[in-house]
Amino acid sequence: MHYFKHIGILLALLIAFSCEERTDQSKSIFVSSPNGNLTVLFELDETDSPSYKVIFGGNTVIDNSSLGFSFEDKEALKDEFKILNSSITSFNENWEMPWGEQLIVENNYNQLKLELQEKSELGRSMNLVFKVYDDGIGFRYEFPEQDNFNEALITEEHTQFNLTEDYKTFWIPGDWDIYEHLYSTTKLSEIDALTYANHPSLAQTYIPENAVNTPVTMVGKDGLHLSIHEAALVDYSGMTLKVDRRNLSFESVLVGSENTTYKVKRSLPFNTPWRTIQIANDAPSLIESNLIVNLNEPNKLGDISWFEPMKYTGVWWEMHLGKSTWDYGMTQSMDTWKDTGNAHGKHGATTANVKRFIDFSAKNNIKGVLVEGWNTGWERWIGFEDREGVFDFITPYPDYDMEEVVSYARSKGVSIIMHHETSSATETYTKQQDTAFALMKHYGMHAVKTGYVGKILPKGEYHHGQYMVNHYNKTVEKAAKYEVAINAHEPIKATGLRRTYPNTISREGLRGQEFNAWSADGGNPPEHLSIVAFTRMLAGPIDFTPGIFDIKFDAYKKENQVNTTLAHQLALYVVIYSPVQMAADLVENYEANPDPLKFIKEVGVDWEETKVLNGEVGDYVTIARKERQTGNWFLGCITDENERSLAIDFDFLDPESSYSVTLYRDGSNAHWNDNPTDIEIEAMTLTKGASLTLQLEAGGGAAMSIIKQN
Ligand code: NOJ
Ligand code: CA
Repeated sequence: MHYFKHIGILLALLIAFSCEERTDQSKSIFVSSPNGNLTVLFELDETDSPSYKVIFGGNTVIDNSSLGFSFEDKEALKDEFKILNSSITSFNENWEMPWGEQLIVENNYNQLKLELQEKSELGRSMNLVFKVYDDGIGFRYEFPEQDNFNEALITEEHTQFNLTEDYKTFWIPGDWDIYEHLYSTTKLSEIDALTYANHPSLAQTYIPENAVNTPVTMVGKDGLHLSIHEAALVDYSGMTLKVDRRNLSFESVLVGSENTTYKVKRSLPFNTPWRTIQIANDAPSLIESNLIVNLNEPNKLGDISWFEPMKYTGVWWEMHLGKSTWDYGMTQSMDTWKDTGNAHGKHGATTANVKRFIDFSAKNNIKGVLVEGWNTGWERWIGFEDREGVFDFITPYPDYDMEEVVSYARSKGVSIIMHHETSSATETYTKQQDTAFALMKHYGMHAVKTGYVGKILPKGEYHHGQYMVNHYNKTVEKAAKYEVAINAHEPIKATGLRRTYPNTISREGLRGQEFNAWSADGGNPPEHLSIVAFTRMLAGPIDFTPGIFDIKFDAYKKENQVNTTLAHQLALYVVIYSPVQMAADLVENYEANPDPLKFIKEVGVDWEETKVLNGEVGDYVTIARKERQTGNWFLGCITDENERSLAIDFDFLDPESSYSVTLYRDGSNAHWNDNPTDIEIEAMTLTKGASLTLQLEAGGGAAMSIIKQN
């Protein structure tokens, strides 16, 4: 493979030093990754259209794929280009994550930059930049400042991903309004996104054509693993991928708006987001890849030690179960928001109830308590057209004393996590952000969970279009000024911006635990998280809200349940990464199960190192993470609906230390449906080099705390 590397460098030199002759001769340029195993070939074809090709381990994994744009008011940019200049450079750095799956990230790539210009009279120029890593590639378009082109009204981006095999594909539909769909596993040629249109459990959904959302992950016959996504989505629309089932290819389709005929509007100069392809020989390497964060710019916020990774509990699951409500029950007096005595008595966010969560958290090494339903406006939330001006983010219901709750929490070493459900009324939220974040600052609250349930206001915008991408990003930037970190629900997809704005702590953007409480389709199947780990999780941290112990919750809902074992729920604290990790169940359910609760009490949330020990997309995965500061390890292992046994080698432990270990595993009769709470807890001692076979039952899992003794 070094062959390509050298040819690439040679060609680049030739081009760099002999620009003039170049235009008529070689029109293709190679660049290879640092280890030489991955190569991108850029080409201008017979019509001088730009295209790229990707070769991995000697095999073509992306065949010639076209690149270009169409615009509302101008000719398309797609052919009749010449190469003005090209350059190949190398880059290698280590950078530190303020919080994350690991402390140090290596960022090592070779870059090919092409400066292209149209040969036509317009003579517009456009650059293409490819960054080639050992674990994948990122490329983007750059529109430099120029005389004949000041503003781009992009009606479509035409980036192709021309695949060479009918891959087994793990996908969700290309919904413009939500990512909360179950993953489907089909051949690429059998993707049919439109079957998911109008899902009854979604407050907003729009799937215009047979496209998928990213990350979309594919597995080949010979074990090749690919995942396509994007990085650094800033002032642009989210990209869906339209499926060409016959030609086994994807083409970008940007999310649009009903209010404009174009999909993206930008003044020049600007760059598009990176289009990314992670490439590996096995599934674990996809999770270990840092491609997405590496393609983002370094930290712009500086020190953010005001945010500390934490576990949290909260007034949350009880509303999803119907035990309590977000609203206070002032249905007779919508306009005044005054306490009219119409309280129905089921309101969840009361001072007393929140104190119960604070007490429980303080006792169990959990540093945060989320309070949903504390502010006025919930009476006019889902199902109302006119939602602007309803929520105000500073006015509590009469039974919630914020001052008292906050100081009580502080006295116990716990902090309150704020909640802003915007109901997608974006103008109201934008207007109130300064006041709302200032209130948080006043109370020393450093994290907020935001929510965007319902169709976007202003009407005609979608959650994943340019208008909302800007709303989400501006919210993060504004929050940073008040030392506030954001965990967005119904968000835009994660694209690694947490590197640049590390107050972007977590987000939803998938079918979370809540679907198990109420969805009309039986909840999340046992395989859900073993797909999520290799798809959605490649994009960034997930606020999945694990830890449900009362798996069947028959006292509240007979028709719904969680479709995993209890040990699987524990394993998720390690498998699913987030710097804020919820212990989601009711206090009484934890108190009734003190033994498994010990794992939640002990498990870390901020990691120095992550090792993916094994895994197959959609089947199982085992992840071990080393906690920062303590050097303790935690391990989580989950399986789909199939039982299996997995051999684990503890090579990753420190050779100097011995570890006192607690293993939480499925009991021998455990089964996600028939016997989900059958769990065995065993103590043992381990040292480096030990090995263990873990037996996972159907829908099951295993969790280990591996505490360093010396
Ligand atoms: C949907 C969120 O995903 C959920 O966590 C939250 O409780 C509700 N919206 C209310 O904001
Ligand atoms: Ca949601």
